[in-house]
This record gives sequence, structure tokens and C-alpha cells, in this order.
Amino acid sequence: MTDNLNIEDFLSRVQEVGGTFAREWERFRFFVLDPSRPEFNEGLQSQWQQGNVPLLDKAKSALGDLGQLRTQMLGKKGEIANLKRMIGRLPEARRGEAHQALRGLEVHLVNPLGGAEDNLQLFIRKLEVERESIDVTLPGRRPRPGHLHPITLMRQRIEDIFVSLGYAVEDDREIETDFYNFDALNIPEGHPARDPQDTFYTTDGFALRSQTSTVQIHAMQRRGAPVRMIAPGRVFRRDTPDPTHNPMFYQVEGLCVDRGITMAHLKGTLAEFVHRLFGPETKTRFRPSYFPFTEPSAEVDYSCFSCGGPGCRICKWSGWIELGGSGMVHPNVLRAANVDTEEFTGFAFGLGIDRTCARIYQLDDIRLLFENDVRFLEQFR
Ligand code: FA5
Repeated sequence: MTDNLNIEDFLSRVQEVGGTFAREWERFRFFVLDPSRPEFNEGLQSQWQQGNVPLLDKAKSALGDLGQLRTQMLGKKGEIANLKRMIGRLPEARRGEAHQALRGLEVHLVNPLGGAEDNLQLFIRKLEVERESIDVTLPGRRPRPGHLHPITLMRQRIEDIFVSLGYAVEDDREIETDFYNFDALNIPEGHPARDPQDTFYTTDGFALRSQTSTVQIHAMQRRGAPVRMIAPGRVFRRDTPDPTHNPMFYQVEGLCVDRGITMAHLKGTLAEFVHRLFGPETKTRFRPSYFPFTEPSAEVDYSCFSCGGPGCRICKWSGWIELGGSGMVHPNVLRAANVDTEEFTGFAFGLGIDRTCARIYQLDDIRLLFENDVRFLEQFR
């Protein structure tokens, strides 16, 4: 290696590097102070003028800048490393002097850099702990827990009663074929009973079920006879909304098929149901009616739970409230579900949950149940 560098040039280079560092260091000199001193904070604030940058971000960015300065000065390809390599080009006799000058510069850089980095790291940790800590004295945000919809409350009350009478609860599809919604229920194509149950159709031959009676067929096909089940669920009709009608509403179907089942079982079951729902003094009334899937058929009423008979606003001054339709399962329906009509008979009923719910909670309009107005729904908490 040739001696092509003189000590004076080397020392002036050392000084130059020292000067560069001193200029850069100006931005960071506050950080060698104890972070609890106000100057530390002021230094940090004054470095970055963007008013709304959080202090934690400023501190992290200052630490990043300090890291860069460390690499520039002390890194593998940094200024100190360059100067070290230059020593080899000095006359041997002057190398001791050069080493000494370089060590001086190194100490001048390393100590403050390390101190400032340590302080900034401590400060960042402190800010992070503060950010994550919870002030237990602050008032909490009150959680707003949800609650069950009145229709669900009603459905659960109905289910509880029938389950305690030995009925299974069936849940079935809302989209049906014509066969389950009409044909299997003894309502062939062109039968006038299809009209009041007009529903919504899909383009590929399916329809939204217009009554839960569809589940009678599914349940008998699935379980065979004997069977005892209720099927609560949503049904759909092309009904214009008014205080007692919605195009989507809830029904609960009941079906009991066994050997020797008669109309007496139907009457006894529904009488027991209204006793449990409204009280033991509640009476039932069966009015002859017509449903294609039951023969004989009856509309069922119960005596008003509010006035008990004389008439009031709730029962519209009649003393009676309609519960739903019922009857003895038509043999054609049993046959459609492959049940032997010689061996088995059964009864079925279908009740409107929405209207019963409206009566119990004294609502004038069942449309309220689906408006999703929290002020209304909160009353059922
Ligand atoms: C039927 O739907 C028969 N499937 C009931 C039945 C089942 C009879 C088993 C015999 C054997 P109906 O169309 O009457 O019957 O409806 C029954 C109940 O649903 C009514 O009493 C009423 O409470 C309710 N309901 C009917 N249409 C609507 C509507 N648009 N909005 C709200 N509730 C309704």
C-alpha cells in the first residue's frame, strides 16, 4: 500500500465529518435529556411542525431518523468506516495519531446517539402504555343488548305449550312446489280455494308457501304415522297490507295423526291450548267452515281474554277472538302422504301468530310488528 495520504488531510476530513454530524445532531440534541424534562417534549414538538400529528408518531419518526444518522456515521459503509480505511494510506509513523483522532470522533458520535435512542425508546414505550391504559374512573358506554321480537316471544309461548303436550316442532322450507302448497292439500289446479291463497311465484315453477299446511305433507312423508307435530313459520300471500293483513306473516300448523283420532281430540287439544295461553276460564267455540284439506272443517274462536265475554274494544265487542282454522285431515291428504286411511285418522289446525300476538299485546295494527321501529320494539324487552 502506497503512502499517498498525509495526516493533515486526514485530520481535516475527521473534522469535516465531525462538523456534518454536529449539524445533523442539532435536531436531536434534546433527546439526550431525561424524557421527563419538559425540554425533551418541547424538542420533540418543535422538530415536526404538523400540529395534529400525534406525539407518539413524531417520536417514532424521530427514532427512525436517528437510526439513519447512526448508519450514515457508524454503519459498515459509513463515515467512520471510510476514515478507518483511509488510515492504511497514511505514513506508518502518523497512523497512531490518526487512530487517536478517529477514536475521539467515534466517542463523540456513539455516546450521544446511543443515549438519544435509549431515551426515545423509553419515551415511546411510555406513550404506548398511556395509550393502552384504561381510565377506570371514566363513565362506561352502556351496552344496548338486543331482545326477542314480540313474534318470537309469542311463537316460543306457543311452542312451549305444544311441546309439553308431546308435540314435536318442525321447521320446513318457505319455497314450495305447487304439489305441496296445493295439490297434496287437496286443492287441484283450477280449484277456487287457490284464489284467496294466491302467493308469489318464481320463474322456475316454485312458489312462496301461502300456509304452513305444506308441512303436514312433509312431516307425514318424513315421519310416517302416527305423528304429532307443530310447524311455526313464515307464509306469504298476495294480500294488501291493512291493520289485520300483511303479505308476509306467521302461522303455526298443528297435526296429530294416529289410530282413533276424532274431532273430540281436536277440540280438547285447542281448549287446553287456550287455557294455558290465556287462563283456565277461557272458552273455545267451533264454527263450521271449509278448507279443502280438512273434512269436517271449523274456524276456532276463544272467549276474549280481556272482557271474558260481554265484549270490549279488544274483541271488537263480540266477546270472541278468532284463533284460526282447523278440522279432521281429509283422506286425500293422508293418501298424498302415503298414510293408510283405513288405519289412521287425524286432526289439523293452523293459527295466525301475528294476529294472536297483536291481540295479546293490544296492538291495533299488525303492520307495527314489521316496521322495525326501535321505539315500538323496545316495549317488549
Ligand atoms: C289457513 O291458512 C289454513 N291453512 C288453516 C288450517 C290449517 C285449516 C289446518 C285447517 C287445518 P286461513 O287462511 O284462515 O287458514 O289462515 C289462518 C290464520 O292466518 C288466520 O286465522 C289469520 O290469523 C292468519 N292470517 C291469514 N291471512 C293473514 C294475513 N294476510 N296477515 C296476517 N295474518 C293472516
